[in-house]
Amino acid sequence: MKYKHLRPLLFTLPAECAHSLSIKALKSGFSPAPIKRDIDYAPLKTQLWHLNFPNPVGIAAGFDKNAEVIAPLLGLGFGFVECGTVTPKPQIGNPKPRIFRCPDQRAIINRMGFPGKGVKLFKDNLIHFLNQKPRPEGIIGLNIGMNKDQSDPAADYKLLIQQIGALADYITVNISSPNTAGLRDLQHAAQYTDLIKAVLDARSKYCSEHTPPPLLVKLAPDLNTEQQEALASASLEIGIDGLILTNTTLDRPDALPNKFAGEKGGLSGAPLKDKSTQIIHNFYALTEGKIPIIGVGGIENAKDAYDKIKAGASLVQLYSALVYYGPELVQDIHQGLLDLMHADGYAHISEAIGAAHNEEKT
Ligand SMILES: Cc1cc2nc3c(=O)[nH]c(=O)nc-3n(C[C@H](O)[C@H](O)[C@H](O)COP(=O)(O)O)c2cc1C
Repeated sequence: MKYKHLRPLLFTLPAECAHSLSIKALKSGFSPAPIKRDIDYAPLKTQLWHLNFPNPVGIAAGFDKNAEVIAPLLGLGFGFVECGTVTPKPQIGNPKPRIFRCPDQRAIINRMGFPGKGVKLFKDNLIHFLNQKPRPEGIIGLNIGMNKDQSDPAADYKLLIQQIGALADYITVNISSPNTAGLRDLQHAAQYTDLIKAVLDARSKYCSEHTPPPLLVKLAPDLNTEQQEALASASLEIGIDGLILTNTTLDRPDALPNKFAGEKGGLSGAPLKDKSTQIIHNFYALTEGKIPIIGVGGIENAKDAYDKIKAGASLVQLYSALVYYGPELVQDIHQGLLDLMHADGYAHISEAIGAAHNEEKT
């Protein structure tokens, strides 16, 4: 069954119910996406850090908060799955409703506040996935965050590295969700440096028997020029492995209907697209392409993904567009990326990374 036939039914439900139902459906093996088998993946395979991504399109954090449906998500064609945000203790998050759709603008506002079942269950689910023989192809990122009642953020991030760091292909330190009080303050340069150094120490301590998982930091799109410059230079100095750009925005563009725009929380989907692409562009320039970037925000077709790659992203992720277009979108983006890169004369997708910067110079 095609997603366009399912969508009207799902949209009669509150957004969070539809999401829970999707998780249940994925768990039970149901997939509305027809599997295409005629895509030539060789030009899309991406080697980054020591990891082999089967393709550069991943599912962003927040969809699989408890690491419950990693294998089914890889089965839809995603090259990587970022699970979480996981917090040390279970917590219920903000009162419902807390996810709002705006189909006209293909946008979502959420103020979830990191609801989740906590790291213990997350770890059990992850181990269950990792023990599958053979392990399904694809890369697993673990996105970590702090509990709402934690006054010492570093303690939670260190604990999470201790608990699950060695199981990760890569780790994302989330300091950019707008729905946990004080979280975004960790993006201030001094706090940022202290926190990330502490997390890197924890990684050396607890992941030393393995090739340490790359450590990425996920940032907000709502950073001014000075903040972007400070974070870029701090990131280079500390030596993080990657940046995820970006999380949701607090902006409310004029085109949004008033009722929707009045909801508190982070805005994602199409209205975030250009802003996040600009931030990717800025950080790629500020870091001279030395820190790999995963680009995310408003991607709803291959052109959007390609624009982020040309702005400087080595990999891309999406979430909101899955709600509006369904899982068929994933393979449509793969095929579209191949078409776009071939039209530009590239033999491999990696050749397009940062191409917009060269176009600017010529
Ligand atoms: C309902 C919802 C929940 C989210 N939860 C998280 C989260 O737990 N951690 C995180 O880092 N980002 C979270 N995000 C942000 C996404 O990972 C992504 O950065 C953002 O939505 C922009 O991408 P998109 O426009 O493709 O959705 C969430 C987004 C949505 C819509």
